[in-house]
Amino acid sequence: MAEHNSALGLATAPIHVTRGMDIAKSAPVQPVTLIRPHAAQRAAQYFVRNFPGRSMYAVKANPSPELIQTLWEAGITHYDVASIGEVRMVARTIPQATMCFMHPVKAEEAIAEAYHTHGVRTFSLDTMEELDKILRATNNAKDLTLCVRLRVSSDLSRLSLASKFGAHPHESKQLLFAARQAADALGICFHVGSQAMSPEAYGNAMELVRQAIVEASVTVDVVDVGGGFPSSYPGMEPPALESYFETIYRAFESLPISYSAELWAEPGRALCAEYSSLIVRVEKRRGDELYINDGAYGALFDAAHIGWRFPVRLLRETPSDVRDMEFSFYGPTCDDLDHMAGPFELPGDVQAGDYIEIGMLGAYGSAMRTAFNGFGSDETVIVDDEPMASLYLSDEDRRIPSNVVTL
Ligand SMILES: Cc1ncc(COP(=O)(O)O)c(C=O)c1O
Repeated sequence: MAEHNSALGLATAPIHVTRGMDIAKSAPVQPVTLIRPHAAQRAAQYFVRNFPGRSMYAVKANPSPELIQTLWEAGITHYDVASIGEVRMVARTIPQATMCFMHPVKAEEAIAEAYHTHGVRTFSLDTMEELDKILRATNNAKDLTLCVRLRVSSDLSRLSLASKFGAHPHESKQLLFAARQAADALGICFHVGSQAMSPEAYGNAMELVRQAIVEASVTVDVVDVGGGFPSSYPGMEPPALESYFETIYRAFESLPISYSAELWAEPGRALCAEYSSLIVRVEKRRGDELYINDGAYGALFDAAHIGWRFPVRLLRETPSDVRDMEFSFYGPTCDDLDHMAGPFELPGDVQAGDYIEIGMLGAYGSAMRTAFNGFGSDETVIVDDEPMASLYLSDEDRRIPSNVVTL
């Protein structure tokens, strides 16, 4: 990984100096990932200071060891892991980290290795079969925190997580009761779906938690509100995170639980969306379609498969004065499926040979890259300019790029 340090000037530097531009000037043939550790650090510090409970990072969103190290240094001590691969990677990267295995359907061998080799004590479940599996794999351990996952609505989120996992209300009573017998600490968890666009997603889910606790009459030690905290994308500008935290805290305070009960969250996207962007080259233009050198099988899976829109900007030394128009993208592979409908707004004179920065790809983008058809590149550069959108920067902060010294 290279650190990009080219001088950008002092007080007279233009406000919109971008480090992406510096990379584009070197005319890279392959896509280049730009990473912004300062943005991930700022997001982590925001959660650590403002979320009214414990924030654990959902590793799935971006399993980069460098990112995990950055989050750890910013105060994130707990990690939500979903596979034995993630368990091993976090254990290697931060041996002191606490991991919680929050995938409700796990291989028995994975549970055993996580418990016996890596010290994992927290597991989620949504069926009696999974409870049996956890107890078998841990030899009926007495030091488990067992989190029963409830099925809640994803209606207020852009990406549903309502179908695959979670106990229905008619199943949760028996499950909570059985987990209570087996656990040292009993938790309830849920996931409101990714990119929750309203705090009420959590308010509504907490009402289901309340009903489940009353119905089962059990003592609950942990309430885990899962992930779903949003980031900012074109056409998806969410309310301030503060309002999500307020709604969650109010609901948590009114639950029938003991004073010592803990509140947890598993943010993925919100901690890493701003962490990286991608520089691509336009290889061909056909009307309003741009053929670029990354796509559906690279970091743009979500743009292709679920129509997610990302911010874009043209990287030219002399900015274009042609009015923006809407483009779609084709990725580099031979597949028709390698298509991103967007729309992506760029100056109307974009042409082959131009470089484009695609922003807000830190969550899920990098995590899903493949080398299908011989494409894909690992070239990564650390930059210190600001991400193309942010939930953590005030308007005041935005006016002063971090690479400009004001006199
Ligand atoms: C169990 C669990 N926790 C947390 C997350 C992170 O969600 P998000 O990135 O929406 O915050 C996911 C994502 O699917 C998940 O499955």
